[in-house]
Amino acid sequence: MDISIYGFHDSSLCLKQDGEYFIYEFERFANERYAVLTSHWNSAAPDRELVKSFYSYIFRLHKISKVTNCYTNQFYHIDQEIIREVIPVENFVPMDHHFAHASSAYRQSPFDDCWVISYDGDGDNVDGSKSSFTVWRAEGEQISLVHDFQPYTSYSLGNCYLGLTGALSTIKKRKAQKDRYLYQGGNSGKLMGLASYGTPIESIKPAMMDFYDNGTLQQQAELERLYGKQLTTDALSGQEEYDFAATLQWAFEDKFFRVFDTLGVAPGSRVVVSGGCALNILVNQRLQDMGFQVYVPPNSADCGLSFGMLAHHIGDRHVDLTYRGFEILDSDDPLPEGFSKTAVSNSDIAELLYTKKKIIGYIHGRAECGPRALGNRSILCYPTIPHLKERLNAEVKFREWFRPFGAVTRLESVPKYFLNGSESRYMSFCPTLRPEYRFPSITHVDNTCRVQTVTSAQHPDLYDILSRIDGMGGEGILLNTSFNIKGKPILSKLADAFETLRDTKLEGFVYNGNFYERC
Ligand SMILES: [Fe+2]
Repeated sequence: MDISIYGFHDSSLCLKQDGEYFIYEFERFANERYAVLTSHWNSAAPDRELVKSFYSYIFRLHKISKVTNCYTNQFYHIDQEIIREVIPVENFVPMDHHFAHASSAYRQSPFDDCWVISYDGDGDNVDGSKSSFTVWRAEGEQISLVHDFQPYTSYSLGNCYLGLTGALSTIKKRKAQKDRYLYQGGNSGKLMGLASYGTPIESIKPAMMDFYDNGTLQQQAELERLYGKQLTTDALSGQEEYDFAATLQWAFEDKFFRVFDTLGVAPGSRVVVSGGCALNILVNQRLQDMGFQVYVPPNSADCGLSFGMLAHHIGDRHVDLTYRGFEILDSDDPLPEGFSKTAVSNSDIAELLYTKKKIIGYIHGRAECGPRALGNRSILCYPTIPHLKERLNAEVKFREWFRPFGAVTRLESVPKYFLNGSESRYMSFCPTLRPEYRFPSITHVDNTCRVQTVTSAQHPDLYDILSRIDGMGGEGILLNTSFNIKGKPILSKLADAFETLRDTKLEGFVYNGNFYERC
């Protein structure tokens, strides 16, 4: 049996058995966002016992007693010791970080011939160097490097974007535990939401461009000088903060398209985008609006790397990894005190959502692989409920007021609701809603919506529920957000679903044909 492991933040283990891929994200097992399997200079050290129980659980589940090849990157000596305490491993085979990104995205895409762009903070190569922005041509089994933009610090859009989020006071930071640095990657997504409330500041645009082009403390000092403010922790607030966030987003897009324009990609070409920066849906949408055929996998960040490594060695393409994560890890037996359980059909669920306007969790099959809940570990609700965004942020999700919510609709409903929409299976795009459908709960300040499209083949039950709501005279579009406890990753246990139901204004959840609610 061959497996692959990516060990730094967004750790995952991937394997293929009986013709099926399985990809397990460690954070879902550890129930800690960005939990790591490996040691790294700027990350919390791994919890050895937890790492061992993760490996043991998976190897027991799949009846694996020996690993021949373990494909890895950023995998250091100490971590090989941990896994070898659990199972014999013959070989550890390393791979370049960005090649793994490119392989992962291409091998999940529907394309046989395309460009692949991989960009992030940075990632290690086997020879000890680093890369941050790479471009590839993929054709059949061949994935060939076209550009590796160096020095990597001058092309690290991820590090520049994330690097100044500390100054934005509205963004709640993860609190470092004593002598343990905690990865702050989640701030990037929050920055993207906050930026939409501001306008880029003309006077600091050149210095911000310089910061993106060189990314040193010297550039930051010049930026601070022109801006007239030190960018210390939580230094900015209110409109000043939103405008600064908007300038960071402006520079991110400016830099991306300055690099992209040098590539000579022909109009209408197929373009796969990967790396953590592919979570920037504004760039993805712009590429799509320019007429490119764009594919962004659901796991473009580092959680998809293990698949990229393993699938390269196996040679698979057109793999659908969307729902290949953990099954629910516990059971509802016995039913916790204070909760009831009722059998429900899709028609009942449509009624709960549309007629009764309930805010409900929806747990279905295997977990999504990637940061977006796509209908298997989701909270769903009808988007017209008054003050829904505020209620969800304050009473269910306990997160910043400005955080926008995504939506899910059937693929054929896209022209009805959107001015410029097309297929968006993994919430990787943010088309503009038609004026008559700008429900406040799912409409960003720029009138866009991060949308997931579903077909009956992709998710038969969710598709059916949306169709039933449509048939009842409602709108076939639902707010869709991740089902998790505050500050935790997407949940993997019913115990966490019950805790959310007990401690928040969530009004129930569906699992395995049953509806659970408070008695
Ligand atoms: Fe990466």
